[in-house]
Amino acid sequence: MGCFQSRHRGKKKIAKLPVMFNTKGTPYLTEEQRRLVSDSWQEIKDNVEKVGVITFMNLFETHPEVQNSFMPFRNLKKIDMEHSAVLRSHSLRVMGTVDKFMSRIDSQEKSRGVIIELGQRHDGYNAKSDYFDMVGPQFIYAIKPQFAERWNGELEEAWLKLFQILSFLMRKGLKRAKNAK
Ligand code: HEM
Repeated sequence: MGCFQSRHRGKKKIAKLPVMFNTKGTPYLTEEQRRLVSDSWQEIKDNVEKVGVITFMNLFETHPEVQNSFMPFRNLKKIDMEHSAVLRSHSLRVMGTVDKFMSRIDSQEKSRGVIIELGQRHDGYNAKSDYFDMVGPQFIYAIKPQFAERWNGELEEAWLKLFQILSFLMRKGLKRAKNAK
């Protein structure tokens, strides 16, 4: 697994997008963006475990504070992280959340409650709301090589937007959990 990490070294920052909101104040994907993420997800799914692990390995490399907030990973060396069953399991759970979201992509409202509750549970997992925003850009770095010359700005924008929506809803849940204390 070490080989694909080193390929992603260097700057991993992606410019923030202006977020589009619907009348209820939730960011949303346009019809064209829904088509772009749905079509590409079919391909990404073939490598979903690898993509999830690269996403989180890159996230921990660029933001060590996130790694340290994951109790089982505190002070773990990179090589041990790569082989961690917990890392694989969480990476797959995140990808599973994306998959569920994709299966209801045409009725984004229906997924809202489920994702907000997931964010609420992350209060108990030591996650901070800023961390959710960091996942999307690392996911982009993980999937880009698979698309090579087929990658373009529209596809990048659509995927960033999808992760912005997940992050927006999870932040909302986390805030709700904190307010309820
Ligand atoms: C898009 C972002 C994320 C998604 C979709 C996501 C999804 C999930 C899911 C589905 C679970 C399984 C347990 C449950 O349903 O309550 C979980 C558990 C967990 N998450 Fe996340 N997560 C995200 C980001 C993060 C971040 C940034 C952290 C950093 C602290 C984190 C830390 C944890 C921990 C510690 C657990 C419990 C252990 C485990 O199940 O591996 N998550 N997450």
